[in-house]
Amino acid sequence: MDNIDIRPVCPDDCELILDWRNDPESQKQSYNSSVIDPETHRAWFERKMKDPACLFYVLTYDGTPAGQFRIDIRNGIGEISYTVAPLYRGMGIGTLLLKSAVKTGKGKVNALIGFVRSGNPASKRCFEKAGFTEFKTGDDSCFIMMPL
Ligand SMILES: CC(C)(COP(=O)(O)OP(=O)(O)OC[C@H]1O[C@@H](n2cnc3c(N)ncnc32)[C@H](O)[C@@H]1OP(=O)(O)O)[C@@H](O)C(=O)NCCC(=O)NCCS
Repeated sequence: MDNIDIRPVCPDDCELILDWRNDPESQKQSYNSSVIDPETHRAWFERKMKDPACLFYVLTYDGTPAGQFRIDIRNGIGEISYTVAPLYRGMGIGTLLLKSAVKTGKGKVNALIGFVRSGNPASKRCFEKAGFTEFKTGDDSCFIMMPL
């Protein structure tokens, strides 16, 4: 896909990223499955945008935001969170987001990890296709890439 771009998140993305997070499927797959209210989200978003330990990017498709990934860094390890906008699912964008996260993390973290709930086979497949290794953690999975 050559109409794809990756750019750092910007203040105008705040509302969109909340919509994606509160979409029923994202909510179900999240470890914190409650609906997030706009004020809580805005405070969190502003904090993350300023945090040097957070690499936060938006993927655009034909200029329209279609997904996001975030790498939260602690002790040299980056934890990935990502979402594809509901209208753009099933097109390979999830896999592209993870491949972009790997490129972004190179030189900045020693390893990348992502946690996937057992009922999320599409996300598991994305991590596999992006080259991560799966470790089972109970019913759920932890995907790791190390070294980058
Ligand atoms: C999970 C998510 C990121 C996947 O993104 P996507 O762009 O739709 O996924 P892709 O199109 O890149 O690929 C999905 C792969 O999973 C496969 N897949 C989809 N549903 C599946 C299912 N029920 N069982 C097995 N495989 C499935 C697809 O066939 C595809 O594999 P293929 O290319 O080998 O055919 C997206 O659905 C999403 O944002 N969901 C809500 C938020 C979320 O779950 N985030 C991840 C938290 S860990």
